[in-house]
Amino acid sequence: MNIDDVKKRAEQLRQEIQKHNYLYYVENNPEISDFEYDLLLAELESIEKQYPELKTDDSPTQKVGSDLTRGFVSKKHPYPMLSLSNTYTIEEIQAFINRILKIVDRQPTFVCELKFDGASISLHYRNGQLSEALTRGDGEQGDDVLQNVLTIANIPRQINTNIDFIVVRGEIIMTRETFNKLNQERIEQNESPFANPRNAAAGTLKLLDPDIVAKRNLECYLYYLLGDTIEISTHFERLKQLKHWGFNVPEWTKLCHNIDEINHFISYWDKERTNLPFDIDGIVIKVNEIDLQEQLGFTAKNPRWAIAYKFKAEQATTKIISVSYQVGRTGIITPVANLEPVLLSGTIVKRASLHNADQIKLKDIRIGDYVIIEKGGEIIPKVVGVDLSKRPEHLAPFTFITHCPECHTPLIRNEGEAAHICPNYYCPPQIKGRIEHFVSRKAMNIEGLGTETIDELVTKNLINNPADIYKLTKEQLITLEHFADKAAENLLKSIEQSKNTPFPRVLFALGIRYVGETVAYKLANSLKNIERIINATFEELIRIDEIGEKIAHSIINYFQQSVHRMLIDELKKAGLQFEMKNDALPKSDKLKGMTIVVTGTFPHPYNRKKMEELVVQHGGKLVKSVSKSTSLIVAGEKPGPDKMQLGQQFGIKIIHQDDFLSMIESE
Ligand code: IVH
Repeated sequence: MNIDDVKKRAEQLRQEIQKHNYLYYVENNPEISDFEYDLLLAELESIEKQYPELKTDDSPTQKVGSDLTRGFVSKKHPYPMLSLSNTYTIEEIQAFINRILKIVDRQPTFVCELKFDGASISLHYRNGQLSEALTRGDGEQGDDVLQNVLTIANIPRQINTNIDFIVVRGEIIMTRETFNKLNQERIEQNESPFANPRNAAAGTLKLLDPDIVAKRNLECYLYYLLGDTIEISTHFERLKQLKHWGFNVPEWTKLCHNIDEINHFISYWDKERTNLPFDIDGIVIKVNEIDLQEQLGFTAKNPRWAIAYKFKAEQATTKIISVSYQVGRTGIITPVANLEPVLLSGTIVKRASLHNADQIKLKDIRIGDYVIIEKGGEIIPKVVGVDLSKRPEHLAPFTFITHCPECHTPLIRNEGEAAHICPNYYCPPQIKGRIEHFVSRKAMNIEGLGTETIDELVTKNLINNPADIYKLTKEQLITLEHFADKAAENLLKSIEQSKNTPFPRVLFALGIRYVGETVAYKLANSLKNIERIINATFEELIRIDEIGEKIAHSIINYFQQSVHRMLIDELKKAGLQFEMKNDALPKSDKLKGMTIVVTGTFPHPYNRKKMEELVVQHGGKLVKSVSKSTSLIVAGEKPGPDKMQLGQQFGIKIIHQDDFLSMIESE
């Protein structure tokens, strides 16, 4: 490779890693496994080491990924919240110990702990009182998710100490049992399931409604105590102190004196981990003595006194019986291997994704082969390779289908793309997929229109596109299976209510390829109405934050198709929102992160509705009833006595109109 190629590759890697950071930390929906991610990072690190001139300040090798999101107040971490460098072999741990021995003045001991696979949290206690709970964010500052953390059992709100400020760090996790139940509910409600408990825990922690968080049964394990005036001199003793204060400290922790003991702990948990009720993705090894930790210090991203040993994703070998093809809502064909059932990471696996024709060809996967499967970031496991030693003789090379398995239209491939596509817009799974996406909770949120009902409506030719939903009548609905009067009325009500869905979500509901929730919001917020979006040029689009060439082409291509313009006309006629409402736009974010109840009557020119609008316009979350997670009550004349009593009982701040108005008007 010449220097230009190396430069290009480094840039490519940086973009790729940043994309995966975003998918992991913000979307909680990673596309690749941690191991694959670490390979990308290692390649970039090695290029930057060899060519230091190519290193940039914002390179992902220099910064931890960021989980900062809209809707929370972000605050500075009093001690940076770093990540751990990952290792995969015992030799790398030996190298870690050797590096330490070169720096410190005496032999350290090591604490081995489980590496919980969840979302990290930093709890701040001021004079023993829990005052903030910050996510890792970008390591420098994190989002304050205290209201959500308060819903988690066994996080003490108060501890018995006279130390004025301490920080306790740990991991918020979801057990596999809770995760399975949650996903089942989500599937029943036509919502996309979480890929794994980590994503579910991290996603839940960032919900804006603590009442929903409370129902998700999150748990928290604490493994790190920090503070300038703590006199306990070892990590192991600090964990004991945390336990004494009432924190949920992991019991699976061991003080080790040498590499053999560390190795033993690792091998034990590599086998035993499937018997734990939650996921761990490795072992953390920490220098025990705090003064030695201080001597060792930190690099830009990691402490030098701790390291993670990551378990390799569990693998299993099984036979491919056949290959079937799924047709997505955008027409993309995904080949899926049907397997002889096999146990992998605690679940029986019968299917694995083969991604696309190129991947099958590259790995030379054939029907009848024994393949190695592995769980990556996604729900469906993937085939990572073929066990050629088990290949039966004369196994025919694989041939990809040429026609759509559902509507038999010849498949096409767009230039530069790996996917085969069914170009028939009216191919039944595409029609159903578009409608399923349109009604889903994050889009139009139409309750009562599950996959089976959509199937029946499409099959009976009652709906063909999202606009047809708004033409459904009660008489039509009661002809459906399992649809009595009440269900039909509820569905019609939900359809009617969906007309108030704000423009960004309507835009997301259209299902334009690559236009997820965030891009839809940015697009709607910059161009304000659908006409400007339809007529936007490529240059206008790529000027918008988060919109690159690929997304811009996709948006232009979508609106060039008359079928889409007709759909929008019909949806407009049905009364959907196609412009950004100015009064819905935030005026400030002074109330960001606050859950507010407005009660009583308010003198002219205000009234309760106006006061409630002000809460929303200034970034607050308006709720109707008082709970432990309410941050503020705005009380007018004759406030609800129950609300006031509960407010006092929970120690919630109660303010009157004047104070509220000066709060939002202050500079
Ligand atoms: S200690 C400065 N201990 O792993 C070191 N981290 O990749 C602080 N994690 O961000 C971290 N279990 O979210 C530590 N027993 C454990 C852990 C643990 C899980 C997570 C944590 C951290 C990430 C690093």
